[in-house]
Amino acid sequence: MKVYQIPVGPMQNFAYLLVDEESREALAIDSGWETEPIVKLASSEKLRVKYVCATHGHYDHVKTMGKLAAELGAVTVAFEGSEVNPKVKVRDADTLRLGQNDVIVMHTPGHTEDSVCYYDGSHLFTGDTLFVDAWGRTDLPGGSSAKLYSSLHDVILVLPEETVIYPGHDYGEVPFRTLGEESRKNPAFLAKTVDDFKRLTQD
Ligand SMILES: [Fe+2]
Repeated sequence: MKVYQIPVGPMQNFAYLLVDEESREALAIDSGWETEPIVKLASSEKLRVKYVCATHGHYDHVKTMGKLAAELGAVTVAFEGSEVNPKVKVRDADTLRLGQNDVIVMHTPGHTEDSVCYYDGSHLFTGDTLFVDAWGRTDLPGGSSAKLYSSLHDVILVLPEETVIYPGHDYGEVPFRTLGEESRKNPAFLAKTVDDFKRLTQD
């Protein structure tokens, strides 16, 4: 599937369109601050956007989610416990269909309790769970460094190393990177125990 990475707003957020090129079915991830660049791209590429998905409920990721879904004729999607209150509530291991492809929801709490990643078998959209060179804050309401450590090591790091990580913010030296390279560079992956990780997060 094809990925469009779209910078949005003043906080270095990334929104995404994930596209099944055969059917032109697509989903949007984290509309964030503005709908216009996403709607324009969907229109110029003749996409049928079925879902507008949240990686978690923080406002810089979901601010325009309802508006974007209305403009695209899509439905909103978020984790079942999220205060976002979407049209479609998903759980861990649920799937979203694009053409002949399944996009898998992976519950990855730690930055927030409602954090999820979306995985199509090649690309992993990590929201604020994992950034290039960094990881999500654990000191905000619902945050937990122990849960984030487990999400990073037990849920994400077991995926194939050629998986490409697409984060929720442009905080790294490059905008996206393979999991294999990330595993060798990111201090959160280099931490080999939860206590090592807690020393990094200073929680
Ligand atoms: Fe966040």
